[in-house]
Formats: sequence, structure tokens, C-alpha cells
Amino acid sequence: MICVCIGRGRHKHVLAEHRYLAEQGVRLVELRLDYIRSRPNIPRLLRDRPCPCIVTCRREVDGGQWSDTEENRRLVLRTAIAEGVDYIDLEEDIAGEIPRFGKTKRLISYHNFRETPEDLASIHERLCGLDPDIVKLATMAHRPSDNLKMFRLMEEAQVPTIGICMGEIGAPTRILAGKFGAPFTYATFQHERKLAPGQMSFKQMRDVYRYDALDKDTEIYGVIADPVAQNLGPIVHSAGFRTLKMNKVFIPFRVPRDDLAWFLEASRDLGIRGLSVTVPHKEEVVRYLSQADGAVRGIGAANTVIFEEGALVGYNTDFPAFNEALDTVFPNYEKGQSLWGKTVLVLGAGGVAKSILYALRRRDAEVTVSARSFERAASLAERFKCRPIQWFDRVRVEPDILINATPIGMHPNLDETPFDRSHLQRGMIVFDTVFHPEQTLLIKHGREQSCRVITGVDMFVRQAAFQFEHLTGQSVPHEVLRAELKRATGAAKL
Ligand SMILES: NC(=O)c1ccc[n+]([C@@H]2O[C@H](COP(=O)([O-])OP(=O)(O)OC[C@H]3O[C@@H](n4cnc5c(N)ncnc54)[C@H](OP(=O)(O)O)[C@@H]3O)[C@@H](O)[C@H]2O)c1
Repeated sequence: MICVCIGRGRHKHVLAEHRYLAEQGVRLVELRLDYIRSRPNIPRLLRDRPCPCIVTCRREVDGGQWSDTEENRRLVLRTAIAEGVDYIDLEEDIAGEIPRFGKTKRLISYHNFRETPEDLASIHERLCGLDPDIVKLATMAHRPSDNLKMFRLMEEAQVPTIGICMGEIGAPTRILAGKFGAPFTYATFQHERKLAPGQMSFKQMRDVYRYDALDKDTEIYGVIADPVAQNLGPIVHSAGFRTLKMNKVFIPFRVPRDDLAWFLEASRDLGIRGLSVTVPHKEEVVRYLSQADGAVRGIGAANTVIFEEGALVGYNTDFPAFNEALDTVFPNYEKGQSLWGKTVLVLGAGGVAKSILYALRRRDAEVTVSARSFERAASLAERFKCRPIQWFDRVRVEPDILINATPIGMHPNLDETPFDRSHLQRGMIVFDTVFHPEQTLLIKHGREQSCRVITGVDMFVRQAAFQFEHLTGQSVPHEVLRAELKRATGAAKL
């Protein structure tokens, strides 16, 4: 069950959100009375409530907004109990002074906005001694190992326990709480209105992660990155799981660089089946692989890893995705056919440029690479046997194929392009790896100049589809991924 938190300044807004959420099928809400700017009118909030609720009134020290006296706060809590609220949230230090009464269930809570303490188990034991129906611990996560502590605690608890790690790193505990035995998790009414660090919206929990469908048999997949919040992996892969009715979930794992080795080891413990890997781990992860496909070895980076019995297997799906997307403009060619005699200009010398240069090299194209750091371009040129040029010289090349492997033109810099329009020639192939938006300025100029264009979405969808296949052994229709990407990026013309 997802409990949605309502934190509004006026009674009428609290009531309206409560009603709306119940209509949306929400079965439990938390009324944060500390957000109400006037004295809370509890009978008004609880009378005719459209679905059960928890009453919570947090002090500032516990992350709340209550600015009146402690005496009045306790009066509010006691009144809610007297009015027969379904659940009352009581912090550890006051739980002993507010006894059980009527049918109101007691949720005994502990908050720590600084850290996830080592002695989580003994804190939990203390809370269990305060006559709880449910114990709730919310602590700040700084490392992925904090999540693991919380999962173990929930799994082993004898009293129903909700263990939430706050912050971006803690997101997995919010999504997987139910799988590890928690009676419910918390979410916000809207994405922009977080009441605690790292909270996700009710819609995200319900529609992307399908929280209510997760159970102890749900297989865990995910993406490791740092930061991870903007990563589209959870959105597109979850759409694939939904479409193919798979009992799988795709989690955003924020893993700092230093935690990679630990995380890969702990993944087996957690039963994680496979991971999408992105910045900053794509290259580093290669040292931990026991098997790797040819592209991983050639590029020196993996974007997909699978945990097989006793082995960690790595793949690079940017490489086949680039090749397949490029082939769409050569309808009469065989797939992956040689590009002998074609001149290609690659802009950028980062991660995606490496996969592209590796692919082009294998197809015998005549490649020039240009980046704002000439040293980086020269180093890639040496490795992939091509020609580096200075960034300011890039428009002097008259390539058959132009590839943008920089983020220039990416949202929100929509009016930027890496290659002046006047240098685009009719018939040239223009391939932009930027996928948000799909219609970048470079792509628009390319179309206007009668170039053949390939978009970042064409490549993104393919790399995600290859990844999905490695992770699950099944294929997902490209249209599903494309539609989901379009919804997520909100672009008008994807
Ligand atoms: N469609 C797909 O499937 C797909 C897959 C992966 C990536 N991408 C896209 O590809 C782009 C690059 O990704 P990446 O992972 O390769 O990133 P990266 O490793 O950070 O490399 C980016 C490259 O672009 C250069 N660059 C950045 N800003 C620039 C600017 N304003 N002017 C000139 N050069 C600039 C960087 O130069 P410095 O080294 O000097 O910073 C670097 O060479 C991103 O837009 C990403 O969304 C698309």
C-alpha cells in the first residue's frame, strides 16, 4: 500500500487533496497537521474522510513545520485519537506518554536527518517496546550500504516495520519497502511537493514502479549511476516489464564512484539480476567482469551487466544500437556493411564517442574526430586509428556522415548546435546522439538542408531494447520504449 502525504497550509486544500486521492484509488493518506497554518480543526479533517488516514504533527527537529508549543502539539495528537483517527504517528520520546485508546493504531517513529546509525537494530528494539502497531524508521542515507541495513531490518522485524532511507541514495528503500515486508511506503501528492528528502510522487510509485504489484518474488533490476535522478532507465524498462507482464522492477540506484565494488558484491546478496550501468561507472565496471562481449573489450566500457551464477557478464549496447540506427539510412545495404570510402566527422570525445569510433573503425570508414579538448580528441584518434582536428576547424571537413556525440543542443539549450547550418550539404547524413529533445536544432537544420537524419531517439531506443534483451532474455517492441521516452521527456515531436 502507498500512503500519500498531504502537507497543505489550508484545511480546504487538505480536504480537497484527500478526496482527490481517494478517487484515484489511494487507500491511506498521511495528514501532516504541522503544515496547516491555522490551529488544526481535527473534527473537520476527519469527519466523512474518504479513506483512512494517519495523523502526524512533526516538530522542526524531526523535519516538520510545527512552530506552536509542544503542549499544543500533544493536544492535537490526543484530539485526533479521541476523534478516532485510523493511525497516529508518535515519536519515540512522546509515545510512552500518549497511551493507546480506542481503535486508533499506533505508529511509533524515529527520524534521523543526519545519518543511518550503526545501531539501527537497537533503536528498532526500543521502538518495539513502546506498544506499536507499526514501527517507522526514517534515516538519511549517505551510502548504498545504508539501504541494505534497512532492508535487513525490515525483513527480520517481528513487528510490522517501515524502514525508509531518505535522500536520493535511499530511493530503493521507498520502492522496495513492501517487498521487504513493510506494511506500506510513503509518497507525495505531487513530484514538486516533497515532504521529506528523496520522496517520490504517488504517480511515480504507482505507474512506474507498480508498487502494489511488487511481492517477495519480484525480481530486481536497476541502473547504477551518480547522479541517477534524471536517468530514463527506470521509466523505459518498467514500461517493458509492464507490457510483457513481468514480475520485475527496475530501480534507480545512486552509487557513488567509491561504492561500485561494494555494490556489485552486495547486488548478489539482494538478488539483483542485472544492471544498466552509466556515468561514472561504465569504464570502471569492466575490471569486475568475468566475461565481456567484444564491444566491451574494444571500447573499454560496459553499459549492461548480468549476474549469472558465479559470473558477472558485461555488454555494451551503445555499439550495436549505433550501427543499427545508422543502417536505417542505407536501405539497400546489408546490415553493418562496410563504410569504405565514406568520410565521417565525429564531434565529441566522451563515452558515446568511443562506442561510435569503435563501430566506425570496424566498418572501415575514414574518420575524423574533433572535440573542444584537442588532447582528448587526439588520444581517441590514436586509439581508434583516425584523424584528430581542432574544434574550430570542424566545419572545414566536408563529411558524408556527421555525428554529434556532444551534449550540445540538449535540453534546455535548445538553440545551440555543434555544426553551423551553412556547412550542411544536401544528401549528407546527420546523426545526433542527443535524444532530449529528439528534434534538436542540428536535426532541424539537417532536414531543412535535405540531409538524411538519424536522431538520438533512434539510437536510445535501440540501446535500451538490446539492454532489455540481455537483462530479461525477451524482446520489447521499440514502439513501447519510444512512446515511454516521449512521455517522459514531454517533447512535442518525438
Ligand atoms: N542516443 C543515445 O543512445 C545516447 C547514448 C549515450 C549518450 N548519448 C548522448 O551523447 C551525448 C554525450 O554523452 P557522453 O556520455 O559521451 O558524455 P561525455 O562522456 O561527458 O562526453 C561529452 C563530450 O562532449 C564534449 N562537450 C560537452 N559540452 C560541450 C560543449 N559545450 N562544446 C563542445 N564540446 C562539449 C565533452 O568535452 P569535454 O571532454 O571537454 O568536457 C566530451 O568530449 C549526450 O548528449 C548524451 O545524451 C546518447
